[in-house]
Amino acid sequence: MLTADVVVDCQRGDCGKGKVVHSLAKKGNYTHVMRFSGGSNAGHTIYHEGKKFVTHLVPAGVFHGLKSIIGRGCVVDVKKLLGEITELASAGIEVDNLLLVSEKAHLVTEGHVREEAGETRIGTTKTGNGPAYRDKVSRIGTCAEEDWRLGLYLVDEYKELHTNEADVNVLMEGAQGFYLDVDWGDYPYVTSATCTTAGAVMAGIPPHAIKKVYGVAKPYETYVGAKKFQGSEPALYELQKVGNEFGATTGRPRQTNWLDIDNLIKAVNVNGVNTLIMNKSDVFEEVGVFNLYKDGKLKTMIEDFTSFKFVVETFLLNACSQSLNEIIWSASPLEI
Ligand code: IMP
Repeated sequence: MLTADVVVDCQRGDCGKGKVVHSLAKKGNYTHVMRFSGGSNAGHTIYHEGKKFVTHLVPAGVFHGLKSIIGRGCVVDVKKLLGEITELASAGIEVDNLLLVSEKAHLVTEGHVREEAGETRIGTTKTGNGPAYRDKVSRIGTCAEEDWRLGLYLVDEYKELHTNEADVNVLMEGAQGFYLDVDWGDYPYVTSATCTTAGAVMAGIPPHAIKKVYGVAKPYETYVGAKKFQGSEPALYELQKVGNEFGATTGRPRQTNWLDIDNLIKAVNVNGVNTLIMNKSDVFEEVGVFNLYKDGKLKTMIEDFTSFKFVVETFLLNACSQSLNEIIWSASPLEI
């Protein structure tokens, strides 16, 4: 039987999906981890056996000896992927026999990357992502199966996952976040891919096979890109500093603002999140200002972290009762 759990980001990326996938893959009884969208624009920070890793394309299952698939919804810069494989190998993480690339994933070419080199309109990561997806939907792109360097890794994930011979339990790893989703994000300040739970279905997991959806968020918000997002209060700059809010892929400072609870509610509802993990709670508590937005207005009345958690949980559990049944406040970069 095929079953799956899904991990999605409920904000604008950078909420700690890497850590969550790494922790779940360690504890859960998964047979596979599969990335379902995005490319090397993503940067997943993972702490494994005392070492820090930043992966861009390789799914976190390889750290636990699990087969790890780059799905057909992803775009792959082969040179970067091979570089990442070499880097992981030199740190003792062997991916051969574990890493699989869907033969129908699309390639990011050097031309795609060149095209984005001077891009500033929406502030992309300049990794050639948008042009690669554009060529895919224009039906002039190139599939992974056409690149000889990927021969060893190619897979037909339908045959790999839909088998009657064994139980298959997949952890589906999203990339970016709800408000960067091409359909649900703040268009045009979005990425070119599907970042919601729907992306897991598009990757070959039928809806009935999805057992649990994990949403990842922070008690404050960050965004990297060209639109203005940074709030002006000194505490927000403090959050940026204490939370080390600088891009894992580009090193750009992440603009920081207070949590908008209505936005979080929407992302939880559309994704069908069952368990919401509020990462970086330690950072938020340390900075000690407990503001949030509700109905577009800034609420500055909350005095301590316990009250903040209560307010946020009350709003969420009331408005997301269809699916949400657990909220975890995580205060460690190492585990949930
Ligand atoms: P692109 O995905 O490189 O086309 O960039 C589109 C938008 O998504 C830009 O605002 C990027 O900064 C943002 N973005 C893409 N990937 C990530 C990510 O992994 N974390 C945060 N922002 C991202």
